[in-house]
Amino acid sequence: MSAAERSATASPPVGSLRLRWLSFRNRLLSSPHFQRWAASFPLTRFVARHRARALFDLSAGFVYSQVLAAGIEVGLYQKLEAGPLSLTELAEALGLPLAGARRLAEASAALQLLQRIGADHYLLGIHGAALLGNPAVSQMVEHHRLFYRDLSDPVALLSGTHGPTSLAQFWSYATRDRVAPPNGVEVGPYSALMDGSQSLIAEDILEAYSFGRHQCLLDVGGGEGSFISSVAAAHPTLRVMLFDLPAVAARAEAALASRALLGRARAVGGDVFRDPLPAGADLISLVRVLHDHDDPQALAILRAARAALPPGGVLVVAEPLAQTRGAEAIGAYFELYLLAMGQGRPRTVDELSALLREAGFVRPRSLPTRRPMLTGLLIAHVE
Ligand SMILES: C[S@@+](CC[C@H](N)C(=O)[O-])C[C@H]1O[C@@H](n2cnc3c(N)ncnc32)[C@H](O)[C@@H]1O
Repeated sequence: MSAAERSATASPPVGSLRLRWLSFRNRLLSSPHFQRWAASFPLTRFVARHRARALFDLSAGFVYSQVLAAGIEVGLYQKLEAGPLSLTELAEALGLPLAGARRLAEASAALQLLQRIGADHYLLGIHGAALLGNPAVSQMVEHHRLFYRDLSDPVALLSGTHGPTSLAQFWSYATRDRVAPPNGVEVGPYSALMDGSQSLIAEDILEAYSFGRHQCLLDVGGGEGSFISSVAAAHPTLRVMLFDLPAVAARAEAALASRALLGRARAVGGDVFRDPLPAGADLISLVRVLHDHDDPQALAILRAARAALPPGGVLVVAEPLAQTRGAEAIGAYFELYLLAMGQGRPRTVDELSALLREAGFVRPRSLPTRRPMLTGLLIAHVE
C-alpha cells in the first residue's frame, strides 16, 4: 500500500476534544447570524473583516492572476521601470486604447502591482517592483497560460475525464506511455523554464546544506546544469556531474561549456528508469525531481541513487513540500499542477522519509530553508 493510500484509510480521531472544538467552530462560522454579530462586535470586527477578505481572495484569485498576466504580456512593469507615467503616456507605451489602459492600471493599482500618484499618474507598486527584480516569476506567469487552460474544468481534471492536457504536452517526459525519449525540440521549453528559476533555489539549498564536505556531486534530473554550476562556483574543489535525459544533457553540456566549467563538470545523458547512474559521487541531489513522479517511479529513482552511492554517501532531496507551516498554499498549487501534468504529487516530510527508508537510506531528516515556498530540503544517508 502506498503512503497516500495508507493515509487515506486512516480513521480521523472521532470524539477527540480537538475534533469537537473544530466542529463547534465550523457550526459557528457557517451561521449568518454569527457572521453578522462578529462583523459588528468591536473585539471580533477586525478578525471577521480579515476572514471575509481572505474568502473573497479565494473566490477572486483567478482574476488577480489574469490582471498580472495581462500586465506581463503588454510589458506594463518594464514601461514603468524608469518612473511614473500619465495614463495617456501609459496607453501609448502599451499600445492599448485609453479605456483599456485605465482598467489595467486601476486593477493593477488595486492589487499593489502599480501605485496611483495624483489623479492620473502611475508608478510601480510594491509587487510590480519586486516582479521586475525576479524575471523567473514573469516567466512562470506566462507559462501559467497552459495551466489556466487545463483548469477551465477542474472537476473533469479531478475525475480523470479531462483528456490530454496542455501541461502534459509541455512536460514531454510526463507522458507515461511514451516509447521514444523526448527530443531536443520537446525538452527545450521546459528546460529553459526550469533554468530561469534555478538560481534562487540553488542559493537556498547551498545555504541549508554544506556541500563543502563532499568530493563529488551528482545532480540527477539536473536540467541544463544551473544547479551544479552554482554549487561548483560556491565550492571550487568539488567535482560536479549531472544526469538527465539525453536531449537535456546535450543542452547542459553546451551550457557548461559556455560557463567554462567542462574541466570540472560533466553531463551524462540517460533514462533514470533504464540506465545506471554514473558512479563516483559521494553526494547525489534530486532537485524538483521526485514530486514529478508517482510513488513507484519516485521509489525507483531513490533506489537508483542508493545503488550509485558508496557507504557514507549522502542524498539531498530539494523540492517544495506539502503541509509546510507558513507555505501551505504551495501544496494546493502543486496538487493541481502535477495532476494537470499527468503524474506526481507534493509530499510531506514524513512521506518522503518513508520513501527514503524504503529505498534503503537511513536517518532521513529535513533541514530548514530560507524560503520554503521555493524549496524544502531533506537529507538521508547510506549506512
Ligand atoms: C522539474 S525538472 C527539474 C530540473 C532541475 N533539477 C531544476 O530544479 O531546475 C525535472 C528534470 O528531470 C528530468 N527527467 C525526467 N524524466 C527523466 C528520466 N526518465 N531520466 C532522467 N531525467 C529525467 C527532466 O528532463 C528534467 O530536467
